[in-house]
Amino acid sequence: MCGIVAIASKQNDIADLLLDGLTNLEYRGYDSAGIALLSEQQLWRQRCIGSVKNLRDKLQLPKMNAHFGIAHTRWAVRGGITEANAHPQSDGKTVVVHNGIIENTNDLMKCIPDAIWESQTDTEIVVHLISHFVNKGQSFYEATRNTIKMLVGTFALVILHKNFPNVMIATRKVNPLSIGKMHNIGFFISSDVSMAPVDSFVDLADNEICMISHCDNEFSVKFFDSEDKELPYKIWRKANKITTSSSKGDFADFTLKEINEQPNVIQKCIETLDNGDYKHVSEMMKNKDFINFFGCGSSRYAGLIGKYLYEKFICFTNVTIPSEFNYGYMRNPNESLNFCLSQSGETLDTLRSLEFIIDSRDVVVITNVANSTMSKLAIEHSKPIIDICAGQELSVVSTKAFTAQLAVIVSMLIEFVRLSYSESEAEYLRDKFGEVPKMLKNVLQMNFDVQWLLESSTILFLGRGICYPIALEGALKLKEAAYLHAEGLPAGEMKHGPLALIDEQSVCIALAPGYDNFEKIASNVYEVIARKGKVMLFTDEVGLSQFAESNSDLVKVITLPNCMDVQVAFVYSVAVQLLAYQVAKSRGTNIDRPRNLAKSVTVE
Ligand code: G6P
Repeated sequence: MCGIVAIASKQNDIADLLLDGLTNLEYRGYDSAGIALLSEQQLWRQRCIGSVKNLRDKLQLPKMNAHFGIAHTRWAVRGGITEANAHPQSDGKTVVVHNGIIENTNDLMKCIPDAIWESQTDTEIVVHLISHFVNKGQSFYEATRNTIKMLVGTFALVILHKNFPNVMIATRKVNPLSIGKMHNIGFFISSDVSMAPVDSFVDLADNEICMISHCDNEFSVKFFDSEDKELPYKIWRKANKITTSSSKGDFADFTLKEINEQPNVIQKCIETLDNGDYKHVSEMMKNKDFINFFGCGSSRYAGLIGKYLYEKFICFTNVTIPSEFNYGYMRNPNESLNFCLSQSGETLDTLRSLEFIIDSRDVVVITNVANSTMSKLAIEHSKPIIDICAGQELSVVSTKAFTAQLAVIVSMLIEFVRLSYSESEAEYLRDKFGEVPKMLKNVLQMNFDVQWLLESSTILFLGRGICYPIALEGALKLKEAAYLHAEGLPAGEMKHGPLALIDEQSVCIALAPGYDNFEKIASNVYEVIARKGKVMLFTDEVGLSQFAESNSDLVKVITLPNCMDVQVAFVYSVAVQLLAYQVAKSRGTNIDRPRNLAKSVTVE
């Protein structure tokens, strides 16, 4: 989603630094980009639709001695994808980059009836309010404070004003923003400090204001809390930089690289399990009657797979859609144990659910980003955090973070079984889990014949039991990566409606491991073939030996390793990821950054 980079620098390569900063934030997903620089004499800005590369190619940098610059990648929320709606937004005096959403924009517009509007964005209200207060004689700081007091919604903002060419202001509420130090150069503000060229950093707290000033070729920084008190100090943390350049290695794209990293990621999780890292959480699970997963997108489906595993061994397990829970009057029992699953730790819907329950319920945050907003909230409330240790995932389409979440879910289960059942049962599951990395390596060698999918009008993923959430995930991957319309269904529901979709143009992808209930899903497959629908059957040798239609022209059989439920979760998930990837490749889509999607979804 939107990305902010802002720089206070003694050097004159500020535009390059800003554009490199934007490139590092591209993984978040965006549809337009822009940059603005401010010097004593001049406020300059340039924006474009499309990629940071477009912006770089088209850049017509004037000769100017700028010490401050701001830049942005926008993922459109309010206002279409146009150059006028791209950030920085400006009225010629105030210039602003913004992440988040100002919900009361329409009401606020009435406060400044004379403003001339250049865009359809909510961000522009910030520009006009600050200019309005400055025109009334307020300082830059006062104008910013008075503006943010009026805003309803969420924001990370960096602001420059032509009348104050030696000052840059940053502030935030909910959307993250960090201030980094670049040794001997100046300051670097970013939505994701892990990608920034900084030595140390601080995170801004809600409604804090950071003011960076330039004087005698030196920069100074001050922080003010929400009550306008200057903070005597902030603790600067050492930055652990992640570099992404050339990290695709030999792979064509990040998606394929990340798909292929999964055996190692799972192996790492198995080692963490062997270190006993999940004992504490398994203690929390003991004596619970209700477990709940919160998660969006792939994280939700990881939770659903967890439901199938946990209901078998632990207790009633629910999966809650955060955006429905937050404002939908849904219940969550007092004694529940809640897992908030989010690879980014930033998804606003999940964050809101976490905020709602964190004071009154047992909560564990499971994320891939140690410094994320959800992790920080958990630390503030002394709630446990589990790092899924997948390594940074750059493709918008989640693959290794998804299976790493599954690995954590399985690890917690194994520890629970050790604690509540028997050592031997836990060891049996541990052994089966230990076989997963090797099985995945075999799956990763596979090439699928995707022609039917390229020609089809209806694609249905069918699964029963644990394969139902995998069917959902498979359909999601195909939508995200290949822009094909696919749905995931519990196979038993076919006859209650979706069967009406089946004709010669339709393809069903049946996920049917042989170990359990194979004959039931086989019946669903026969029903599809009988109506001239095509079927790609993902099964194993055990399943195949029970399948009556393997010679049918309407069936393509894909033979995966024989596996049981804990293994199925990984083997079939990776198979559908790879399938979606290969279809996307054939269709030539932008796999790493699919259209319209964002990696870190920080609006509700
Ligand atoms: C976005 C991404 C999905 C992801 C979902 C939840 O929609 O495009 O790939 O599954 O957010 O993200 P989270 O970071 O909370 O797991």
